[in-house]
Amino acid sequence: MPGSTPRSCEEVDPSIRVVELRDAIEYHNRRYHELDEPEVSDADYDALVVELRAVESEHPELLRADSPTQRLGFTPAAQFSAVTHVQPMMSLDNVFGWLELAAWDARNRKLLEPGSALRYVVELKIDGLAMSLTYSQGLYKRAATRGDGRVGEDVTENVRTIAAVPKRLVTGDATPTLLEVRGEVYMPVKAFADLNARRGEAGEPLFANPRNSAAGSLRQKDPRVTQSRELSFWCYQLGAVQGGPALRSHWETLMFLAECGFPVNPEIQVVDSLEAVHELCLYWQAHRHDLPYEIDGIVIKLDDLAQRSELGSTSKAPRWAIAYKLPPEERTTKLLRIEVSIGRTGKATPFAVLEPVFVGGSTVGMATLHNQDQVKVKDVRPGDTVLVRKAGDVIPEVLGPVLSLRPEGLAPWEFPTLCPRCATPLVRPDNESDHRCPNIDCPAQAFARIVHFGSRGAMDIEGLGDKSVELFLDRALLLDVGDVYQLAQRTDDLRALDRYGEVSIQNLLAAIEKSKTRPLGNLLFALNIRHVGGTVGQILAKAFHHLDSILDATEQHIAEVEGVGPIIARSVFEWFARPEHRQLVERLRVAGVNFEGPAAPDVAQTLVGMSIVVTGTLAGFSRDGAEEAITSRGAKSPSSVSKKTTALVVGAEPGASKVAKAESVGVPVLDEAAFVHLLATGELPTPVA
Ligand code: IVH
Repeated sequence: MPGSTPRSCEEVDPSIRVVELRDAIEYHNRRYHELDEPEVSDADYDALVVELRAVESEHPELLRADSPTQRLGFTPAAQFSAVTHVQPMMSLDNVFGWLELAAWDARNRKLLEPGSALRYVVELKIDGLAMSLTYSQGLYKRAATRGDGRVGEDVTENVRTIAAVPKRLVTGDATPTLLEVRGEVYMPVKAFADLNARRGEAGEPLFANPRNSAAGSLRQKDPRVTQSRELSFWCYQLGAVQGGPALRSHWETLMFLAECGFPVNPEIQVVDSLEAVHELCLYWQAHRHDLPYEIDGIVIKLDDLAQRSELGSTSKAPRWAIAYKLPPEERTTKLLRIEVSIGRTGKATPFAVLEPVFVGGSTVGMATLHNQDQVKVKDVRPGDTVLVRKAGDVIPEVLGPVLSLRPEGLAPWEFPTLCPRCATPLVRPDNESDHRCPNIDCPAQAFARIVHFGSRGAMDIEGLGDKSVELFLDRALLLDVGDVYQLAQRTDDLRALDRYGEVSIQNLLAAIEKSKTRPLGNLLFALNIRHVGGTVGQILAKAFHHLDSILDATEQHIAEVEGVGPIIARSVFEWFARPEHRQLVERLRVAGVNFEGPAAPDVAQTLVGMSIVVTGTLAGFSRDGAEEAITSRGAKSPSSVSKKTTALVVGAEPGASKVAKAESVGVPVLDEAAFVHLLATGELPTPVA
């Protein structure tokens, strides 16, 4: 697409630049509104509009009535019939921080009676699609998208499938003859993730974010498709109304809408100072990801309806409301290269090296691409302009390429055949999505293993981070995890490194010494066994009580531990079977590392090999207590009944489906007395003939 890269006005002839910018904006408008496939992030789109406005205000002779800066939204697509809104659907002006927010407030105060007290309703700016719903005599009549603000698209049948949209209002005596409400149709984050997972499995293209996904789901010919998409709705504004109660404030209006049966967001608050408004903006900036749906800002509205009409609107947006935009979490940037990193268990992960871009609150220069299939599905190629997302604590991700900006002849990326560090051929086992470097001596793996060994959840050795490990490997002070406890004998070599003063050396050695007393669960996690994370480490420690017992255990014995499946059991068994790992264990033993787990239980192991499910409330046990009683005696306590279940224990108000399942597959059903007997003796009651 021409003209998408923002440039300063001085660089090119402004009369050419305005055309480039208008074309680019029109193009992205079409992609966003008509095709539901935006190629650039909202922030990048906004930057184009800001630049066009700047050129037009500097060169008023270039301003034209059909410029996108002079219009709202977009004209409806042919697929849906046009609907003229009873009241135009306006947009909102944006502010990007306290100063602009305060300027908005100051302007309002100037326009209102001097000394007026202001109350502000603070709402979340839901990242979905604006919708206008019309009710006639309390019955759902029509739903329309915003379109160009004046004329939208008729999506009545599709919106009818959204459960959150009321079809008949609860209005008591005061039923308005006509009621037009505005709100946002959105897709909850979980529904979006599930939908994309299903699409990925079916080889269908993925939606970039919940907003696109909601838009795509709504603009379907077949309402049944919309129905299957788990869309929802928040109502936030009253449009045209005939009849109904007299309303004096926005808050009153929201209460009325809630009483009618509209879903009104529970996070909406009324405050009476701008400082309190700002505090809420900062709160939501920090907590946006605690919500089960996405927001892209906070909307601040004056509460008093009389004040609102005093302020009025500009041609595009009301003066009485403003959107406080949160920092964008999606931006476009250049994909410079794709590289592959080798992890501690040999996993080869492709990642994007990007032209640094400020997104999600920090500058991002790298983003994961997960695996070969993901690169293929996303079809990102070095040299592409790509859409990058960084949301909260989640690691940055490349969402996809901007196809219209792809230079001609750009070749697809091929997964390397050799490990980039040790040149061993990479392998990708059947049915797995990851490539691995099979060379256990690969220096990249050794590096990642040592860093992990010293990390907080593992052996917690402060001073054994990335930088030190790189240096120690480089100077052959460490070759692998087993050498960590020999560092104490290498103090002269450590002193010879410029970076290490005496204090750092003593601190590092003290941290290494202290790590010898780490609990067995953390040691197991530290050993870099595939599929053994922190939780599995604790489970194994609790079940085996000593590293030597795991060393001696059969694969089957490991698999019998509650919480350990066959894949983990195989991985653990195979890890300990390798001579180099046995040698590592011996080196750790000689160094004095703790191998003991929590003390062995003094409960008799009456239930070894059994699998007992509990449902309903028992008189003598809490839910956790019953589970503990079962697992501490050596049995599993899964949450569902299968053919392999030994018995189902039934308390008060049991789960009907569990009882039915047990009966259908012939699993004995026990009452609490029989359960107590079973715990003590390991015996099931004899079946009554
Ligand atoms: S009020 C005249 N309130 O933001 C007031 N809009 O940029 C019109 N939005 O088109 C909108 N959450 O799609 C309002 N709580 C909220 C909102 C909200 C999301 C969207 C809406 C609108 C856009 C304005």
